[in-house]
Amino acid sequence: MVQPRVLVTRKIFGEAVALVKRHFEVEYNDSDVPFPPDLLIQKLHAKIGAITLLTDRIDEYLLSHCPDLKIVSNVAVGYNNIDVQACTRHKVMVTNTPGVLDDTTADFTWTLLLATARRLVEADQYLRSLNWDGWKLMEFLGYDVHHKTLGICGLGRIGQGVARRAKGFGMRILYTDLIRASFSVEEELGVLFFDKEALLAESDFVTLHVPLGPQTTHYISGAELALMKPTAILINASRGPVVDEKALVQALQEGKIAGAGLDVYEREPEVEPALLTMKNVVLAPHIASASCETRLRMAMMAAENLIAGLTGKRPPNLVNEEVLSS
Ligand code: DGY
Repeated sequence: MVQPRVLVTRKIFGEAVALVKRHFEVEYNDSDVPFPPDLLIQKLHAKIGAITLLTDRIDEYLLSHCPDLKIVSNVAVGYNNIDVQACTRHKVMVTNTPGVLDDTTADFTWTLLLATARRLVEADQYLRSLNWDGWKLMEFLGYDVHHKTLGICGLGRIGQGVARRAKGFGMRILYTDLIRASFSVEEELGVLFFDKEALLAESDFVTLHVPLGPQTTHYISGAELALMKPTAILINASRGPVVDEKALVQALQEGKIAGAGLDVYEREPEVEPALLTMKNVVLAPHIASASCETRLRMAMMAAENLIAGLTGKRPPNLVNEEVLSS
């Protein structure tokens, strides 16, 4: 019997590919180089499902050329690479991998925050270049983290994970969000609700955990950076376009803020060139969820979502519920 065919667009864990192979014939791009848009369309020909990564753009044009597609299973919690409304119009299910990466991403947010505040990357490079000639009282002075004020923008699962960790540092924790959290969540986390402007003005560290959408594109731009303290540090492990990168460069150059720790960029894999030259900026290549355990779990979840969707079950992490009734 001819098995239905699915596409895995880029390298993922072998365990996840093996699971999908138990149900479908799989075309697997294990080269870890994304297909250019036209090739992706060609590869999706006669495929009923796809496991996709953040680097695959799934839009109206692609969908109109892939009439057999029934599900796009993204290996990420974010799905800004997918036009979900277009998928719904084409009766294509969209799934993501929420939950499993929250703690890993919260850990990494703290990695960026601590590394930036305490100048770890700069100090590591200095030592490796064999410039160190002994202990100095005034060398590599950074900023204390403990007992400072942390401002969390977006108190979703990851933002909450960041807050839980901040308690251990004895910090005053502020948050802002579209909707205020319940009293019990605020009490458990020890967080205070602030409006965005007041939070930016009061925080020593501002960390971004909002999803990317029309309202959060350039959520931090020149006006917001101007409100921050000159000693403040901005951390972004959400999505690049949440920060206006050119405005950030300008704020750093003008000393409006003290530093930044970034995992994501406006036009990945491009990075605003000036950032690459700044010592007060720590840069990571979008790796906040990149632990062995979490990335494996994400790939397995994507495989499970795909299999469920194509075997008549409701995928556990369906993003566009409305597709089932359309
Ligand atoms: C996500 O899941 O959205 C992350 O950014 C990818 O690790």
